[in-house]
Amino acid sequence: MPNLGQPGENSLSGRRILITGAASGIGRATALLFAREGARLALLDTNEVLLSEVASATGGLALPCSVTDEAGIAAALDKANAFLGGVDGLVHAAGIGFSALLMETTTEDWRRVLDINLTGPFLVCRATVAYLQKQPAATIVNVSSGIGVRASKRRAAYGASKAGVISLSRVMAQEFGPKIRVNVVNPGLIDTPMVRRTRPTDEILVKETEYYAMKRAGRAEEVASTILFLTSDRSSFVTGSVVMVDGGQ
Ligand code: NAI
Repeated sequence: MPNLGQPGENSLSGRRILITGAASGIGRATALLFAREGARLALLDTNEVLLSEVASATGGLALPCSVTDEAGIAAALDKANAFLGGVDGLVHAAGIGFSALLMETTTEDWRRVLDINLTGPFLVCRATVAYLQKQPAATIVNVSSGIGVRASKRRAAYGASKAGVISLSRVMAQEFGPKIRVNVVNPGLIDTPMVRRTRPTDEILVKETEYYAMKRAGRAEEVASTILFLTSDRSSFVTGSVVMVDGGQ
């Protein structure tokens, strides 16, 4: 039976987890929270400088690599496995934003967004499952987006990639249960470096979230705490689920 834990007990003690996109935003906040909750970490990202900062702060292993690099991912998993002595969790947060009307989306744009945001999770999940299957109980949490379930102008490529992540994850929950639980979080607008690149002022964030029940953008830590729930035994009967973390968008 799963250990549902005691109040105050670290909920990820003994867990060994790979986090992608760990250098920034939601992945970074997840790494910092997971380290505080007792997990040991391997951290993958293309941004070597920021990644090494998060690795120092968490005692994790930095794995500079792109989620599109199949051979690089295999080598990274090998290193993660050796460093951690096994891998029993994955959080896949790496991804890029993209916004353009369909008729202004080039084939190159489309391929880049699908490559990083959908083929990336496929490659990382498939490579990690080989390690997760050696463990009695393991978890995957993929970060999709509210735009993966809702039509939004200018978001054909991004939305298609994120809808794909949901489908990929739910099929994996079926194929790998009961040993591996696979869940998805769908953030709404979260104040991260990705969002700030296109929305530099607080006023823009306030305007864009005025119809949210919570009347504000979320914080990366608020997504990380849902990812923590889905990774810990506290969610032991939750799999194939898509959890909205969107302030009532
Ligand atoms: P961010 O830009 O702060 O962090 C994303 C990280 O992914 C960066 O460290 C970046 O270097 C890394 N990355 C990008 N391409 C990569 C690649 N090919 N290989 C390895 N690493 C790569 O962005 P944020 O906001 O933390 O986004 C995290 C995830 O959450 C993304 O998948 C994004 O689509 C999703 N999301 C974010 C929302 C938001 O409002 N911030 C809303 C809904 C979903």
